Order: sequence, then structure tokens, then C-alpha cells
Amino acid sequence: MIVITAPTGNIGRQVLAKLLDCGEQIRVIARDPSKLPLEDRERVEVIEGSHIQPDVVMKAFDGADSIFWLVAADLRAPSAEAAYVDFARPALAAFEGLHGKRVVSVSALGRGWPQDAGHVTATLKMDDMIASTGVSYRALSCPSLMENMLGQLEPIKHQGVFFWPASGNFRAPVCATRDVADVAARLLLDRSWNGVEEIPLLGPEDLSCNDMATIMSEVLEKPIRFQEISMGDMRAMMISRGASAGIAEAMVNMLTAKNEGMDHMVKRTSSTSSPTSFREWCERVLRPAILT
Ligand SMILES: NC(=O)c1ccc[n+]([C@@H]2O[C@H](COP(=O)([O-])OP(=O)(O)OC[C@H]3O[C@@H](n4cnc5c(N)ncnc54)[C@H](OP(=O)(O)O)[C@@H]3O)[C@@H](O)[C@H]2O)c1
Repeated sequence: MIVITAPTGNIGRQVLAKLLDCGEQIRVIARDPSKLPLEDRERVEVIEGSHIQPDVVMKAFDGADSIFWLVAADLRAPSAEAAYVDFARPALAAFEGLHGKRVVSVSALGRGWPQDAGHVTATLKMDDMIASTGVSYRALSCPSLMENMLGQLEPIKHQGVFFWPASGNFRAPVCATRDVADVAARLLLDRSWNGVEEIPLLGPEDLSCNDMATIMSEVLEKPIRFQEISMGDMRAMMISRGASAGIAEAMVNMLTAKNEGMDHMVKRTSSTSSPTSFREWCERVLRPAILT
């Protein structure tokens, strides 16, 4: 039995889609099962609730062989630590009962970074807590996700511009969620691994915001430009979207660490790269999203 948390999100729904035909029993935890496609709902066991609830995770993890674990930070949480570490605490007892079973989680690059890196620091603390329960654990260590660009569909579509608090020529790794879901699905089906490991997914190349603007211009066949904003602007934008002061601060700390090179600590090799290029992602995901 494979259990999938957050099956309605970007990554979780792709993991679920990849596993539906695998012949395994699938159980999902969903706050609002009506968000799952009707045909999927009929093919899986649905536990209604959130994976922050002790009774929900106890019930959902009972009899599981493998679990897909994903925590999406609640913007209103008081801090990143509350959003990731405290969110995962109720699940720890349930993980302890699964000694030796396999858990695959979505995590972040940045282990060993010496300063507080907000969401990343909290995510890595959560990873360590889960790994210490005795489950076999794989943390998929992601850089920034290409899907972050979907948060800027409106300015891209109407003003031909996107914004980010980084220098236009600063290159960094960027990964597509479909690659994260591919690796997660493979690990969830594979019963041969054990122990604890991080699996970096660096995408095929480092790109700057100016590189991304050029690629988007070519794929969308209209000029798109990048405009740098300050960390103060980023913080204000987060607050205006409902983030707590602590979560806005954590975002600024994470993006500052990225600008200082946090995502370059792991080198790209054949085993740390992931296949989907930003151009391919723009063709498959961004262009259809802009056209609808
Ligand atoms: N963005 C980046 O650049 C980046 C980089 C590295 C790592 N990451 C990690 O990547 C993951 C992002 O995943 P994603 O793209 O799939 O996110 P997403 O598309 O925003 O989906 C969020 C999912 O989490 C569920 N969820 C939200 N709050 C919940 C709660 N309180 N209780 C239970 N479920 C809840 C949502 O369910 P509902 O449908 O019920 O709302 C949905 O299924 C996060 O873990 C993030 O830390 C992101």
C-alpha cells in the first residue's frame, strides 16, 4: 500500500497520476476530496483530513509500505519552523510505527548552509526528525521550482514582465515538478532501498532570470523582460498575500541564502541533474497556462 499526502497539489497530483496504474493499493489524505478528479477518487482509498492531524495520519499510515510526504508551508503560520517542523510532529509517532518502511519527501537543497535559510532550514530539520523515527527515507532536494513562475502569470501575460529579488545575470539551478514526481513515483514503487539519503534534483542547467526571460520570449513569441525587486518589496508582497511576518522573514532569509550561493553547494552530475529544461517546461506548462 502506498500513501500519498497532498494529492491535490502540483507535485502530489502528478505522483498520484503516475501510480494509479501501478497495480498497488493507493490511499490518499485529502482535506477536500472533491478536489481530486472523480475518476481518481473512485480508484483510491481516501482519508479525509490533513496530515497535521494525529488521528488522520495514524489511520492513513496503518498498513502502509511506502509514503509520499509533502508539507506546503501555511502562509499564516507564525514561522517556517511552525509551518514544517510543528506540522510534521503529529506524524512522528505514526512514522515510528512504520520502522523500516519507506518515506519519500519533497525537500530543499541547502544542507550545510551556515546561516538561517528560512524555509530550507525548517524543511531540513523536519527531514532529520522524520529520518530519526527509523523509517527508510529519501528527501528529494529541490532548488527553486519552475512552477514558481506560474505565480506571475498575470504580469507575464498582460505586461510582459516578471519580478524576482535577484540580480538578472545570477545563474542558479531550477527544477520542474514533473521530474520531482517522476523520481518520487519510482522510489515509492521500489522496495529495494533503505537507509537515509538526500536526492538532489538540479534540473539540466543553471539559468539566470535574464536567461529565463529570453527563453519565455522565444516560446511565447512576445517580448518578456525581467525586473529585479528588492527583498523589502518581496517581503511586502508576501505580507499583502496574507503571509505572517515570520513566514515573510523566512522567505527573505531563504532567497538571500540562494543569492549567496546556497543552491550551488551540490554539483551537477549525471545523478544530480534532472531532465526537463526550462524551454520544455515553458512549452508544456507555461504557454498553455498563458493561452487559457
Ligand atoms: N517552490 C519552490 O521553489 C520549492 C523549492 C524547494 C522545495 N519546495 C517544496 O515543494 C513543495 C511544494 O509542493 P507543491 O508544488 O505540490 O505545492 P502546492 O501545489 O502548493 O500544493 C499544496 C498541497 O498541500 C496541501 N495542503 C496545503 N496546506 C495543507 C494543510 N494545512 N494540511 C494538509 N494539506 C495541505 C494542498 O491541499 P489543498 O488542495 O487541500 O489545499 C495541496 O495538496 C513544498 O513542500 C515546498 O516546501 C518548493
